Amino acid sequence: MTKLLANKVAVVTGGTSGIGLAAVQHFVAEGASVIIADIQDKLGDQISQDLGEQAAYLHVNVTQESDVAAAVDFAVETYGKLDIFFNNAGAQGDPSPIMEIESEGAGRTFELLSTSVLLGHKYAARQFVKQGTGGSIISTASSAGLEGGWSSVGYTAAKHAVVGVVRQAAAELARQGIRSNAIAPGVVMTPIMAKSYGVPLDQAEEFAEFLAERLGGTMPSGRVGFAPDIAKVAVFLASDLSAHVNGVTIPVDGGATAVTLSSFGQDIGLYVEQYWSQAGLRGGSREATSGVKEKT
Ligand SMILES: NC(=O)c1ccc[n+]([C@@H]2O[C@H](COP(=O)([O-])OP(=O)(O)OC[C@H]3O[C@@H](n4cnc5c(N)ncnc54)[C@H](O)[C@@H]3O)[C@@H](O)[C@H]2O)c1
Repeated sequence: MTKLLANKVAVVTGGTSGIGLAAVQHFVAEGASVIIADIQDKLGDQISQDLGEQAAYLHVNVTQESDVAAAVDFAVETYGKLDIFFNNAGAQGDPSPIMEIESEGAGRTFELLSTSVLLGHKYAARQFVKQGTGGSIISTASSAGLEGGWSSVGYTAAKHAVVGVVRQAAAELARQGIRSNAIAPGVVMTPIMAKSYGVPLDQAEEFAEFLAERLGGTMPSGRVGFAPDIAKVAVFLASDLSAHVNGVTIPVDGGATAVTLSSFGQDIGLYVEQYWSQAGLRGGSREATSGVKEKT
């Protein structure tokens, strides 16, 4: 069977860890050659060696415009062209609340999470147009790019901006055969958790397991996400399977952003029953509140 990304060339930023690393591994398994673009040089060299000829590492700090441009050039020098650019690198940024954040912290967070994505679009699109081939740009947004309350204001605003870049890209670039889509992961157990919450990196896995056990129950799907959950959707967006998908942000969160609160429906049903029994009622309008028809 033909692999989904056979003969394709991709750049994956943040490709040495978590979601980016899983994407690199899935892209390679599906036949792509991949530039791993990150700032963790030792790790990047090791990963690219392990993956063999289909992977090469380049030091790319996505907050530096010249580095982002160099990632595209390196893909062309190494593998002859570019088909896929995955804007994925990221970190928490400035975690300050609204009443404390300063413009330096807000700016730094936007540079890392939004401007980098815009620059990835700029240089990938230029290359796609030069080649006359079109291409697929994928960006990692977040549940925090769709709703408030998931993270800090800097991160939330910056991830909302990713959704904006993707929509504008569809408006400006679709006629050149360029597609741009984002993925909005929910809670995904990667090293970003340890980094964001001040847990030493050598305890990242243990911390992730600890959180996964406790947070799983708060998700509609009953579990948190893992990096391959996101990487598989990135493969879909990178491949021709998604040829007519453009300008969208796909939540990959087990349903978390589709519902207000995952246990709301059950909780209100319980409270209504408590009220009925307290008020000496029977039947009432249970159908309207819980969707379950009461036999009277
Ligand atoms: N893990 C989650 O729950 C979650 C949820 C929603 C969105 N995200 C987003 O997913 C993306 C990947 O995060 P992850 O969870 O895999 O975390 P991670 O920490 O495992 O990976 C992030 C990678 O980005 C790299 N990076 C950081 N700053 C960089 C820079 N300036 N230039 C180049 N590379 C840089 C890091 O070195 C690392 O390899 C991020 O954009 C993050 O905001 C993660």
